[in-house]
Amino acid sequence: MGIFQLPFRKKSKKTNVELSNKSLTLVPDHVAIIMDGNGRWANERGLPRFAGHKEGMDNVKRIVKAANKHNISIITMYAFSTENWKRPKPEVDYLLKLPKEFLNTYLPELIEENVQIKTIGAFNLLPEHTKKAVQHAIEKTKANDGLILNIALNYGSRSELVHSVQSIANSVKEGNLDPSQIDESTIANSLYTYDLPDPDLLIRTSGEMRLSNFLLWQSAYTEFWFAKEYWPSFTEEIFEQALLDYQNRKRRFGGL
Ligand code: IPE
Ligand code: IPE
Ligand code: MG
Repeated sequence: MGIFQLPFRKKSKKTNVELSNKSLTLVPDHVAIIMDGNGRWANERGLPRFAGHKEGMDNVKRIVKAANKHNISIITMYAFSTENWKRPKPEVDYLLKLPKEFLNTYLPELIEENVQIKTIGAFNLLPEHTKKAVQHAIEKTKANDGLILNIALNYGSRSELVHSVQSIANSVKEGNLDPSQIDESTIANSLYTYDLPDPDLLIRTSGEMRLSNFLLWQSAYTEFWFAKEYWPSFTEEIFEQALLDYQNRKRRFGGL
């Protein structure tokens, strides 16, 4: 995690697409998604929870494809939180097997689509097999310069901030940083997202309206959009509705 200035990036990008008789002319640069409701999706169908997670995994690919089509630069997907370890072990094991299954199935297509894979979260605490599959995909896609698929794996904002404070405190202790020099960029640059702009649009599915420890610092001025559909039923059309709504939001960042 380096201490350096982020390059300037545009908050939104111009486009021109006709969607359900409306024009999409401005898309967010960075979209973050809390993919929630896999378990309830399965329950309603009399299926075990893991069937919902499997269906949710396939939906990641569909929405990544749609994001790519609309020229979005970054999509951050909340796949496993630092609190999800509280679930029964078989479910945790299954969730941590999914990245490997996802990449086994879709990596060739993602490479073809010029997608670059990244992760945020406490990566080292993941099981070996998960780390290996993800590291392989990061390596294989590192030269791609299309959509960034940023997977939040074992991610939690509070733990991220604890690590940030520890690394800054260490810099002070070693005499490389004076406390008076600490500013917002010092903190931003010590987060897992140090090389990414803040999300412009954050979507949560399944009707829940909370952040669940996702991108607390980074979403200070993010636009929120909530879908009632469970993640496996969150279609490209609903995603496009979120994009259409986003372009009408007036982002003021505290100004007038
Ligand atoms: C989202 O679906 C996937 C993860 C949190 C890993 P859930 O598993 O939370 O599904 P619900 O919310 O119980 O329906
Ligand atoms: C948030 O969903 C985490 C992910 C989508 C990975 P949860 O289902 O874990 O959130 P809570 O427990 O309902 O807040
Ligand atoms: Mg949930």
